Amino acid sequence: MMRYAHIVGWGCYLPDRRVTNDELSRYVDTTDEWIYQRTGIRARHIAAPHETTATLAFEAAARALDVADLHPSQVELVIVATSTPEYMFPSTACKVQDYLGASHAGAFDLSAACSGFVYALQMASQSIATGAVRNAVVIGSETMSRVLDWQDRSTCVLFGDGAGAVVLKGSSVPGGVMATTLRSDGSGADLLSLPALYHNRVPISGAEYSTNGHHKNTVDMDGRQVYRFATNVIATSIQDVLKKAELTVDDIALIIPHQANTRIIETAAKKLKLPMEKFYLNVEHNGNTSAASIPLALCDAVRDGRLKPDDNVVFVGFGGGLTWGASVVKWDVTPPEVPLIDHEWRRVRYIMARGRSRLRRWQRRVSAAVTRPDENGQGPKR
Ligand code: COA
Repeated sequence: MMRYAHIVGWGCYLPDRRVTNDELSRYVDTTDEWIYQRTGIRARHIAAPHETTATLAFEAAARALDVADLHPSQVELVIVATSTPEYMFPSTACKVQDYLGASHAGAFDLSAACSGFVYALQMASQSIATGAVRNAVVIGSETMSRVLDWQDRSTCVLFGDGAGAVVLKGSSVPGGVMATTLRSDGSGADLLSLPALYHNRVPISGAEYSTNGHHKNTVDMDGRQVYRFATNVIATSIQDVLKKAELTVDDIALIIPHQANTRIIETAAKKLKLPMEKFYLNVEHNGNTSAASIPLALCDAVRDGRLKPDDNVVFVGFGGGLTWGASVVKWDVTPPEVPLIDHEWRRVRYIMARGRSRLRRWQRRVSAAVTRPDENGQGPKR
């Protein structure tokens, strides 16, 4: 039987600290006028020292599960699209799985830069379509503030922190994620990059290391080239995905693009001969939150009443890799009223999930203390 992956829940989280362009201009040689005119950005949110990509992702996912009315123990797959994981391993998704108490879920991170959410949506919806899982939580989460060179005004003014999540659920009713196209071009890898932390430590012998020419562990970008790439691929991916879904732009109620820059979207809209009203933009408030930007914009679009049941919505992502892609989704849910009392009660279960996680860690320690590997290291011996 055909399974369709429907979006049944959505949730977002933005750190409390909001940094305006004016505040930024106190630390960096820039102005509100320069930033706003070239990018459409007025402010961005910056994570507090105790916050991580995983804690942001957890907050967004918990809210999405509330809307979906799904208990975390029922979740079967957690995917976190991110370029700013706390660790190479464990994955951010495993931390989120633990924070949620999603005890029956597989979990992994997905790296496709700012296209990550569209990529993750496709992986999750295909897992549902094949019957491999019945539901999935797809999250885009970033702490870009931790990987920016705050002396480099051409990049640090562009990005922000945040997380957005959706819950996908399988159903035999047609709808949900209808078609997706994913593309990449690694020949443009150098145009937008973030070197991994230890990639420049090449061991020679013993404790000696040489570097391989890269010294920075911060975002590096050729702004002009990325601009040109983005305006081209937004238009082509929308055209490609509509063809795949056998729809025309007239069938589309709203396009939610990756929120990089207002001018990029305006140029793409001109290429497609579409009015700007067809595009949802909130880059002004959040800056570019990379993989989190599409689900963050989705939350705002739902809040603003921009999506009605049976509307077709297009998500379009583009970014480092180079990567790009688009999805057509039939929006078939009415935003539910989630009573506050329920919400507070649901919080208790996350406190209990942390308690159970601590207990499991403690049990592991106790068990390691009372068992010893044998002399050959072949296994535990009492
Ligand atoms: N404030 C003030 N001046 C700045 C500045 C800032 N934050 N950043 C750069 N400048 C200066 C430059 O030093 C340069 O000065 P100069 O002419 O004296 O050398 C001037 O502004 C023009 O710089 P340039 O880089 O050519 O500007 P631009 O018109 O290409 O705009 C971007 C720069 C980054 C806004 C633009 O290229 C862009 O939006 N690119 C796409 C970026 C993006 O969205 N990336 C993420 C994709 S997922």
